[in-house]
Amino acid sequence: MNYPNLKEAKKRSNKKAEYKINDYSFSNKMMGKKYFLRTYGCQMNEHDSEEMKGILEFLGMTETDELENSDVILLNTCAIRENAHEKVFGYLGRIKHLKKEKPDIIVGIGGCMSQEENIVNEITKRHPYVNFVFGTHNIHELGSLILESQKNKQDIEVYSMEGDVYEGISYKRDSSITAWVNIIYGCDKFCTYCIVPYTRGSERSRKKEEIVKEVNELKSKGYMEVTLLGQNVNAYGHDFHDGTEFSDLLEEVAKTNIPRIRFVTSHPWNFTDKMIDVIAKYDNIMPYIHLPIQSGSDRILKLMGRRYTKEEYLELFHKMKEKIPNVSITTDIIVGFPGETEEDFLETLDVVEKCKFDGAFTFIFSPREGTPAAKMKDDTPLEEKESRLARLNERVNYYSKMNNEKLLEKVVHVLILGKSEKDESKVYGYTDTMKLVNVSASKDTIGKIIDVKITDAKSFSLDGTAIE
Ligand code: 5AD
Ligand code: SF4
Repeated sequence: MNYPNLKEAKKRSNKKAEYKINDYSFSNKMMGKKYFLRTYGCQMNEHDSEEMKGILEFLGMTETDELENSDVILLNTCAIRENAHEKVFGYLGRIKHLKKEKPDIIVGIGGCMSQEENIVNEITKRHPYVNFVFGTHNIHELGSLILESQKNKQDIEVYSMEGDVYEGISYKRDSSITAWVNIIYGCDKFCTYCIVPYTRGSERSRKKEEIVKEVNELKSKGYMEVTLLGQNVNAYGHDFHDGTEFSDLLEEVAKTNIPRIRFVTSHPWNFTDKMIDVIAKYDNIMPYIHLPIQSGSDRILKLMGRRYTKEEYLELFHKMKEKIPNVSITTDIIVGFPGETEEDFLETLDVVEKCKFDGAFTFIFSPREGTPAAKMKDDTPLEEKESRLARLNERVNYYSKMNNEKLLEKVVHVLILGKSEKDESKVYGYTDTMKLVNVSASKDTIGKIIDVKITDAKSFSLDGTAIE
């Protein structure tokens, strides 16, 4: 048994990450059984689920999307927002009933919620039928947790600190066209509202050679696009203390000549000029940057611990627009941070007016237990926060549509990913600037980058026709 501890999770030691090779234990006990896996949250979680699927299939299991029909149920959870919590506990209600009929089903809870003490305590007290809880630092132990799970005994195996970086992970990837590639785990920024530094641990970069090797392997398998993943990709290599920077890695990945390279997420604080230059220099690095601002008020940014001012953000934003041809920039914004006044909120709206973002994910502040912001005085009524969110969304959607309309009648390059769900005669894909396009074209275009003429523009997608 290992219980999570947020105080321990906050600690950062000087210990360097150890690099280990994955070594899964095999048994044919689960051969032919079915697993059901639900994923909540960010791309990092999506990619972790690909690792979990790799382990489950290594044990001889196959995936099912019918909960009632499964032998193993896994929930890969998210801790960022309250509604993600609610959804998971809603699922647990369904699973509880199912367990009564089929007591042999194995139920495991993983992901960021597992790293939270209060959640694990609640599972132990109120959901004793859950067989095991595992965390973000020990996904590699999933196989043995399943093999050793016992009907009447709950196992909690969550580590608060784990500096190790595992290589040789065998993912079962969801796509054969685009792939996630981890470059750095964890986060040391400790923005005051954010639970991620506690649930994901300290910043640990993967070795550059390992990343380039993975990208080369993906390329030789025919993958068209990789997305380099990190909570903050700009911090890449800083933990090596040898001057390595994200721009060095990006340049080496570009030289593999894989057709498309993306990266998320970038913190505005240490986005260097060298990074902008590298993005501008290589055609296979896509002109798309997700650059969360969170707030436009300097006072709130300071309370959030974001390490930049509104002016500094705007300066960086305009530099990117100037130096990277055709770049599209999206952002994240939180409204209703503790103490946010109407004046502060107007500063946020002002940034939106100035930047005219291609898109933005907008959130109402949600207190996360254990973070400094959860203890800050917050006297703005929820209705006021909801009204700010609606006013913000109106402007964000306006600019998103306006940017999409600029593409009307233009020809853009689209990587086609699959059949459109809504319309059988169409396929869908993304422009280099990360805009979703539904395209009238044959299924043979799936997996290819094709020229598309844009015929209609909405707030969140474009329509187009393939041109020969
Ligand atoms: N409340 C609301 N939004 C949050 N985010 C992170 N933590 C919180 C929180 N406690 C948002 C931020 C971040 C995005 C992934 O989620 O905008 O960039
Ligand atoms: Fe959270 Fe800030 Fe780290 Fe992003 S940079 S994961 S918002 S602490």
